[in-house]
Amino acid sequence: MPEIHHHEPPYTVGYFVGSLATASINRTLSKALIKLAPKELEFTEIPIANLPLYSYDYDNDYPAEGRALKEAIASVDAVLFVTPEYNRAIPGALKNAIDWASRPWGQNSFARKPSAVIGASIGAIGTAVAQQNLRSVLSFCDSPQMNSPEAYIQITPGLITDDGEVTNESTKEFLTGYMNSYFEFITRVLTVIPKP
Ligand code: FNR
Repeated sequence: MPEIHHHEPPYTVGYFVGSLATASINRTLSKALIKLAPKELEFTEIPIANLPLYSYDYDNDYPAEGRALKEAIASVDAVLFVTPEYNRAIPGALKNAIDWASRPWGQNSFARKPSAVIGASIGAIGTAVAQQNLRSVLSFCDSPQMNSPEAYIQITPGLITDDGEVTNESTKEFLTGYMNSYFEFITRVLTVIPKP
């Protein structure tokens, strides 16, 4: 039985934006989430755009981008995925980053790292299929995930301003609740499952 100890807040959160697009609605959503989150959470983006395409040929000698990714994940208490759905799955760039972080074998960066997923789409099902896809990947990567609430965000023009202000009150309330739940979830995981 490991010794139970408490990791007190504030907690650091590394967030991934699954889109590389300059006008990404998921990047806009990430700005809104940061604004609405409890003050006990401190956010830093974990960039994915400059990673080469992963191959296990790199496993013996990770390039700087791969090492930086793994160090960034190691240095945060939890991760948050804000991702679009491309062709009913997560974008290749995000899957590539996850593959990099999951290796070399035995050094999976996501093991026991609490996570949550959320996404925005212009379509009505709001990235639901991509999120299920991502949840399968994170399960395999041994990341404890926030199961509930789920958040499938359909973006309509003006719903979130470019600097991340949510203009619709009920959406704002919903996203605030989501981030409060995420904070509680991180607290539970870091309390019950202490970091090694
Ligand atoms: C999409 N889009 C999309 N939307 C969706 O709800 N389900 C899907 O499967 C897809 N598939 C898809 C594939 C590709 C290649 C693109 C470029 C787009 C539309 C998507 O929701 C929209 O482009 C969003 O703006 C994507 O989010 P970002 O990249 O702006 O954050």
